[in-house]
Amino acid sequence: MASFDFSNPVKFYFGAGKLKLLGGIAGQYGHKALLVASDSAKPTGQLALVQQYLDAAGISYAVYDKFMQNPLSTLVHEGAQFARTENCDVVIGLGGGSAMDMAKGIAFCAVNEGSIWDYVFGRKTGTGALPMILIPTTAGTGSESNRTAVFTNPDTNDKKGLVNPLIYPKAAIIDPELMLTLPKRVIAGPGADVLFHALESYISKNANPFSEMLSLKAIELISRYLPRVYADVTDIDAWEQVTLASSLAGMAIDCAGTSLPHALQHPMGGLLNVVHAEGIAAMYVPFMEYTWPAAPEKFAVIAKTMGVDTQGMSLETAAASSVAVVRDFLAGVNMMPTLTELGVKEEHFDWLINNVLTTMKVVLANNPRVPDADTIREIYQRCL
Ligand SMILES: [Fe+2]
Repeated sequence: MASFDFSNPVKFYFGAGKLKLLGGIAGQYGHKALLVASDSAKPTGQLALVQQYLDAAGISYAVYDKFMQNPLSTLVHEGAQFARTENCDVVIGLGGGSAMDMAKGIAFCAVNEGSIWDYVFGRKTGTGALPMILIPTTAGTGSESNRTAVFTNPDTNDKKGLVNPLIYPKAAIIDPELMLTLPKRVIAGPGADVLFHALESYISKNANPFSEMLSLKAIELISRYLPRVYADVTDIDAWEQVTLASSLAGMAIDCAGTSLPHALQHPMGGLLNVVHAEGIAAMYVPFMEYTWPAAPEKFAVIAKTMGVDTQGMSLETAAASSVAVVRDFLAGVNMMPTLTELGVKEEHFDWLINNVLTTMKVVLANNPRVPDADTIREIYQRCL
């Protein structure tokens, strides 16, 4: 068996109705919370619910809701200053991946001086962070399960993750009841990203037996249950499975990382504000066709886990069948955009490729087959 390390220090509170525990949980870590909320948290009533639970527990709070789809590092620094001014000693993130990543960045920068980019690029490591409680309202990014937070630098358009053990949340409250009003596009995109995280971590060169177990369970659950919640947003039983898949996949990428599609998408998010999951979805079929010949055993397992009867097939046929089943999965939740529809043009390719090869080298290297600049250009070209 391969040699590997595994650790995940997050305390998970999982299940319908668990949000009610927030006040007691927050009280374990601080007296005044900075509440970092996505803009959807107000109209859905989720922000008011969280405030009600904090009030009941006697936890005071300040709200920071300057949030956006691809969180800007400038807003992280502003939020950290706000947390210091307000004397907050615990951070609560309520929302999708962007809000949770923003909460992580603020909790980190409230303690560590200077630009967050010094820490993102490894020039500094940091000394601590405010304790964090993350509450996902999409299922999704799995940010509640790991030590990664992705930011965009408005000066350079770099979009890159801070990966640092100091930003593991102390607690994650995963309550499927928070998902019951999501619009279809916010079910499909983050839901597809669960499959992307699970699949890419499974084939990653950094995968280990523990991460593979997490990845495969997530692939099984998301492929079976995402179509159900897409068809009926009120299906709470299916949401339990989808939210579990999201957290498992978030843990899997914490061990094994993502791979080629995430490496090729991040620069699009930074330069063009392309929605994360949609940019990745646009490239998934070409990525799989390019990659499966380098790891046919793993792609054959993916196909089987997603319901293909691979018995009697050759290894190559089984591996190749994973492409069709993933394409059908994405088509079933209407996640088959082209890069052209997302605003990517051929004139962007030089910048995107250069950015992939400079800022996303580590993620790219996780892929079983690593493309050069010409091959990346061909993949982008196919996806227009
Ligand atoms: Fe992702």
